[in-house]
Amino acid sequence: MLSERFLTELAEKNDIEQVISSYVTLKRQGRLRKGLCPFHSEKTASFTVYPESQSYYCFGCHNGGDVITFIKNIENLGYIDAVKFLCLRCGMQFPEDEDDTFSIQRRRILELNRTAAKYYHSILRSPEGKKGLDYLKARGLTPSAMVKFGLGYAPDDWDSTEKHLLDSGFSPEELDSCGIFKKGKKGGRYDVFRGRVIFPIIDLRGNVIGFGGRAIESERVKYLNSPDTPVFKKSRNLFAMQIAKASKQEQLILCEGYMDVISLHQAGFDNAVASLGTALTPEQARLMSQYVSKVILAYDGDSAGRNAAKRAINLFDALGVKVMVLELSGAKDPDEYIKKYGADRFRLLCEGAVSALDFEIGRIKQKYDTDTDEGKVSFLKEYCELMSGVNNGIEREIYTTKTAREMGVDKTTLTSQIDKKIKRRTSAKNNGKTITSKQLRQQMDSFGNDMLTKTQSLIIGAAFKNPDYTRHARGMEEYFTSDSARRIYESITRRAVNGEACTLTAIMSELGAEDSALLSEIVARQSELRCTPEEFRDLCERQKQDKLQKSTDDIKEMSEGQLKDYIAQLSDKKMGGS
Ligand code: GTP
Ligand code: MN
Repeated sequence: MLSERFLTELAEKNDIEQVISSYVTLKRQGRLRKGLCPFHSEKTASFTVYPESQSYYCFGCHNGGDVITFIKNIENLGYIDAVKFLCLRCGMQFPEDEDDTFSIQRRRILELNRTAAKYYHSILRSPEGKKGLDYLKARGLTPSAMVKFGLGYAPDDWDSTEKHLLDSGFSPEELDSCGIFKKGKKGGRYDVFRGRVIFPIIDLRGNVIGFGGRAIESERVKYLNSPDTPVFKKSRNLFAMQIAKASKQEQLILCEGYMDVISLHQAGFDNAVASLGTALTPEQARLMSQYVSKVILAYDGDSAGRNAAKRAINLFDALGVKVMVLELSGAKDPDEYIKKYGADRFRLLCEGAVSALDFEIGRIKQKYDTDTDEGKVSFLKEYCELMSGVNNGIEREIYTTKTAREMGVDKTTLTSQIDKKIKRRTSAKNNGKTITSKQLRQQMDSFGNDMLTKTQSLIIGAAFKNPDYTRHARGMEEYFTSDSARRIYESITRRAVNGEACTLTAIMSELGAEDSALLSEIVARQSELRCTPEEFRDLCERQKQDKLQKSTDDIKEMSEGQLKDYIAQLSDKKMGGS
């Protein structure tokens, strides 16, 4: 993490217009500068630089961001290297030293976490941890799996953990930033994991970075996970990746739960990992893609699991990772499957796993009764839609031959239907206006950004320019329909409250790539926006009362017809106009 102060100075010394000018010829256009985009080929200039917000955005290829993003993209560098590049350019020192105070704090928290993990593990093996041990045994875990994963039990009282850590030499401040404790009404610390079975979360280097805690009694919240801390980011780590990365298998198995992962490892599948209590993030998918080019999805078979699988498929697709999907018939999750049918059968299941395309076709088929003519027609319609999104012609050919035979229809008819849809799709893409529900759904599934309405875009644009406005719009973040927008708004609010800089560079240093892309697009589109506090309040009110407001989840549940209506209603509200 680079300090706020350093990033501000870096941005000041590397004026975006000057930096970009050495790569692109820019023409002045009022407050803006325009040029031919260096990231895609174009004949008319849609690449725009905004000196006011020190940002750039291309309306053609949607590349955008601050000066660091630009250098990252044009010089093909990682974030830190792009920062070093700009340091060299303006003669600034890269802050190794400054980084040190932060890394001392990080080291201390990592030590604290390790001490806590050892403590929880020792409790599990003591009489005090009997409840936890009995539970894990009942779930079929062997003692060696418990050791391998460093499982533990947090004493079921308020202050044993606190006392142990203070006695081990950690300071109250360190206890407050490690994520294990919360403060009670009277200001005393308590262990949030008390009375729970503990799953330490370990990073690729073997550091204990956080914890998951499972309740033993069914009436309590099932899992609690550490919040993000200076050493822990849920979105960037995977459970058991430190073990799986050393596996000889050429693919990873991705599950939903900690218990699934441990069960699989215990049964000999040392390549199983899970995300940390949230849906798979783009960063996690990228991390996996650095180790393997193939992933087996072993998600739960319920509808939530299938939706999550769909989302994960899209993320891996974008990275060129091949995905196979397990059909866990007869069990709700991998853990139960292994217990019921054994490891050998699970291995067979993996070998016979269906491709992502088969999975999608299966999903559609389930929706209709293909024994009836009506069902067949509906199925084939959706099938053609799906296939028109498949780029590989050979793949289309093979699947279509099979489907035509199965449904008893003429293959050439099917192929020409698909071709027609491909044509329509390309022309829609080219004029950039009509957006098919399929495309929309795909975008929704991946990030949910594209549905951002004009109002929301205005609110974020105005908040970015006037961070103080957000003080009078507490709780507004709940009303955003995309997680990205919510995170951006939260970052601005927090900065306003703490009196921190609200520059693009500062905000983007803590957001992921998708969020940053959305923010730079909004900043570009709302560059002319001037908004008074009253107008801002009105915008917020309008958003709160927007009856059309739908969350990404709501939209995923809509039928094709409902979705079409929704798009029609939204068409004049979509984020647009520059
Ligand atoms: P068991 O139910 O014990 O088999 O656990 P599991 O690991 O199979 O969990 P499940 O499939 O119910 O959920 C998958 C993952 O989602 C868990 O491992 C947790 O990371 C997360 N999760 C589940 N329930 C909760 C919850 O109530 N709160 C939070 N924050 N995360 C949860
Ligand atoms: Mn489970």
